[in-house]
Amino acid sequence: MAIVTRKIHYASLLCFLLAVIVQTEAQSKLNIPNTSFSPGAIWPDNNGLHINAHGGGIWYQNGIYYWFGEHKIEGKKGNSAQVGVHCYSSKDLYNWADEGVVLKVSDDPKSDITKGSIIERPKVVYNKETKKYVMWFHLELKGKGYAAALAGVAVSDKITGPYQYLKSLRANAGKMPFYPHGTPETEKVNCADTFNKANKFFYRDFAGGQMVRDMTIFMDDNGKAYHVFSSEENYTLQIAELDAGYTGYTGKFARVYIGHQTEAPALFKRNGIYYMIGSGCTGWAPNEARWFTAASIWGPWTFHGNPCKGPDAQLTFNGQSTFVLPVEGKKDAFIFMADKWEPQNAIDGRYLWLPILFKDDDIQINWLDKWNLQIFDQ
Ligand code: DGJ
Repeated sequence: MAIVTRKIHYASLLCFLLAVIVQTEAQSKLNIPNTSFSPGAIWPDNNGLHINAHGGGIWYQNGIYYWFGEHKIEGKKGNSAQVGVHCYSSKDLYNWADEGVVLKVSDDPKSDITKGSIIERPKVVYNKETKKYVMWFHLELKGKGYAAALAGVAVSDKITGPYQYLKSLRANAGKMPFYPHGTPETEKVNCADTFNKANKFFYRDFAGGQMVRDMTIFMDDNGKAYHVFSSEENYTLQIAELDAGYTGYTGKFARVYIGHQTEAPALFKRNGIYYMIGSGCTGWAPNEARWFTAASIWGPWTFHGNPCKGPDAQLTFNGQSTFVLPVEGKKDAFIFMADKWEPQNAIDGRYLWLPILFKDDDIQINWLDKWNLQIFDQ
């Protein structure tokens, strides 16, 4: 009899625990809408799962924001591409719906985007002429570390994919940079050693094409698009004009701050001024952000130091820039998007979204535990 009673107790305990689990899951799926940003916190999507779109970028159209980023998996293995590029959509920027994996890694071991390659920092733009969505990303070949340093290009007829992989390439083989404002000396940092190294790598890669690593795509208001990337073994940023279809280069490009070792470029434009925020070059570990401005995309670019202020500002609040998002319908409203990487458990990487504050043409980024878009109305 005692055994039967104990069995009943265990059974009810089990039922209770199951009910708690089911209830908790149901609550997380209740879709209680977010009304603010919580930088660095778990950010659940419409299914209650932490958003999986690292190193991302956003394209806005018809009242909807589309966030594209690296889909990461658990553990260190998640630092390489095991799944592909993930997309989410949102009308308010706080609440994101899962649109699925829009560029899938290939099962073909001969493909450049085979499972286990590296696909980083995907960015999507729409081409009005070809009516195609074009995705650019930093691509590294499986088993080759970061040596290949390629750009990958994929296209789709629909923003939410599926994107078809088109090609991989180095940048502007056999081309010399365009310097309407004089020689690169005007942007030289006070470091002859890294300046010389950068030049050595530039000429090493002249015939075969320039390296492409951390990257973004910047769409100007005249419809011209630019690929901005760390090149020359990460010593120099290059800004390269894209062709009319946005799937290749025109051959016109600039080298920015030769030898300055800037990674993670993110660009935006305000009042006719081009702004760029980037980071130093320390692998997955955070470092100090830096910002630049220019009156023309071709420079000369002016270095302004670190835009972040307050505790942990010298480490970009433990994050690294990936994109600057202009908020639709609000004046001077730009969101600094950064990744807090978790290289030991890649899927747990967090998103640090913070407002960019302006004082005249200067910018500042401060840490906020919680904030909402009303900050831009003040
Ligand atoms: C820093 C870059 O910003 C990331 O995108 C990634 O390439 C890591 N380096 C790899 O160490």
